[in-house]
Amino acid sequence: EAAEKGGYDHFMLKEIYEQPKAIRDTLSPRVNNENEIRLDDISITKEELDRINRVYIIACGTAYHAGLLGKILIEKYVNVPVIADVASEFRYGNTFIDENTLMIVVSQSGETADTLAALRLAKEKGARVIAVTNVVGSTISREADDVFYTWAGPEIAVASTKAYTTQLVSLALIAMQMATIKGTITEEDYSGILNGLNKLSKQVKSLLEKEDLVKEAAKEIYNAEHIFYIGRGIDYDVAREGALKLKEISYIHCEAMPAGELKHGTIALIEEGTPVIAVATQEHLYEKMVSNIKEVKARGAYVIALAKEGNEDIEETADSVIYIPEVIDELTSVLNVIPLQLLAYYVAVMRGCDVDKPRNLAKSVTVE
Ligand code: G6P
Repeated sequence: EAAEKGGYDHFMLKEIYEQPKAIRDTLSPRVNNENEIRLDDISITKEELDRINRVYIIACGTAYHAGLLGKILIEKYVNVPVIADVASEFRYGNTFIDENTLMIVVSQSGETADTLAALRLAKEKGARVIAVTNVVGSTISREADDVFYTWAGPEIAVASTKAYTTQLVSLALIAMQMATIKGTITEEDYSGILNGLNKLSKQVKSLLEKEDLVKEAAKEIYNAEHIFYIGRGIDYDVAREGALKLKEISYIHCEAMPAGELKHGTIALIEEGTPVIAVATQEHLYEKMVSNIKEVKARGAYVIALAKEGNEDIEETADSVIYIPEVIDELTSVLNVIPLQLLAYYVAVMRGCDVDKPRNLAKSVTVE
């Protein structure tokens, strides 16, 4: 097993460090020499896309958090309403599925029982199903109409890391492809996203080099009983993933809140020293986030902020800041999640937890 870990203490850390390569492997078969996105994986035509009036993105756990970005990108660039839901809620709720529905299921393993059931329900009702999965030949990959492999390589640690970042990249590629076929994206937006995607692998690598900074931050919070994550828009989605990561492997109660919603309840829980992880990387929401950080600081919170390089004024408000490199707002989660994964990892290690095999959790949930 030590050999399989390739010199790392845990599979989780190894997989965190594999992300620059995993992202390259997701992208390279799909971006041609002319720097255009070409997805052979998805055979949907313009006629079919024009008919689609609703998209469901269905998944569980970390894959669901990745799916939330798919919703934002497809709504914005493909101009069709998207419902993102966890599979266990979706399958027992009211659904509006017919032959004009597209469902995208996201599943690292391709075996999650609830996600598979959602796929079968959609197919029964005549919807087209695209699977985003990491495991070749998995049940979900066999039953979907189109399969988009994330090519992240085997993920062993229960807490998902490289599957998430490659799912984000995959969903961005799918959204771009759909928008191109449908003719709903401007050249400027298209090249902005494509250039952003091409830079991610190197940027993730540069963030991994900030490991020591994250370790310092972990030292400040590893004894906490409760940790809150806040963000707005896409940053709220990655905050949810960060909170999930930390609770899964450290057993600290973690909760992510949309920052603007704090004052409707959660702020009552902020006391002297309560750690708050604030993700503040959406340009148009930055000032709002700074105000939210001030609100929790005023109640005694210890704030670790994630901000973009160039927004150094945040140091006046937050206790500790981790900067992420310049990136378009739509792709920030791929970068933000890196320090959040490392933070979860180091907190869990400092607490002496079994990082790769957390109690009560399974890598793949094939029973209900
Ligand atoms: C389990 C795993 C998570 C994963 C979720 C969905 O809870 O522990 O890491 O995100 O299942 O799994 P899937 O294989 O469908 O992505």
